[in-house]
Amino acid sequence: MAFELPALPYSTSALAGAGMCQETLELHHGKHHQAYVTALNGFVEKNADLQGKTLEEIVAFSYNKPDLAPVFNNAGQHWNHILFWENMSPTGGKIPGALETKLIEDFGSVAAFKDAFKAAGVGQFGSGWAWLIAAADGKLKVTKTPNGSNPLATGEGKVLLGVDVWEHSYYLDFRNRRPDYLVNWLDKIANYEYAAEALAAA
Ligand SMILES: [Fe+2]
Repeated sequence: MAFELPALPYSTSALAGAGMCQETLELHHGKHHQAYVTALNGFVEKNADLQGKTLEEIVAFSYNKPDLAPVFNNAGQHWNHILFWENMSPTGGKIPGALETKLIEDFGSVAAFKDAFKAAGVGQFGSGWAWLIAAADGKLKVTKTPNGSNPLATGEGKVLLGVDVWEHSYYLDFRNRRPDYLVNWLDKIANYEYAAEALAAA
């Protein structure tokens, strides 16, 4: 069965008050994410090796294979964006107690976590993603990946939270000010409830 664009878990105007306008979400979800899904389905249709595989299996199968780079880019971006929509909320920014305790334990403070996350997003040269992950040693860590890659592919850990730092994610709202987009995202948009649930299930 072909891959499909998932519906947003909120309306395209739901995050406008928190700093992500309706046009950003319409383009990002309806055009950019849709384009990744369409391209991925085109590759699967033409390549029997990809058929019958889950999205996660295609990401793992195509990772670090130069001849499958376009497949990896689009499969990775499909996976990343499915997560990204879930990682935002109109009531975002509130950190549940158990997650807060764990962030303080592993980063020293919530502010130190946010600084590290922001630094990862700002430090990702060009397009990519910043992530909060639960590493194999049980510790929370911040990491970043270029373009369509992700911690699922690199094997760095289980993703709790991911933010898109491609310009299409913030240019209408923040122009070139990626640091401001990231600070706003962490304070007002990030769905820490999702991260807490993912941590509990890790
Ligand atoms: Fe994106």
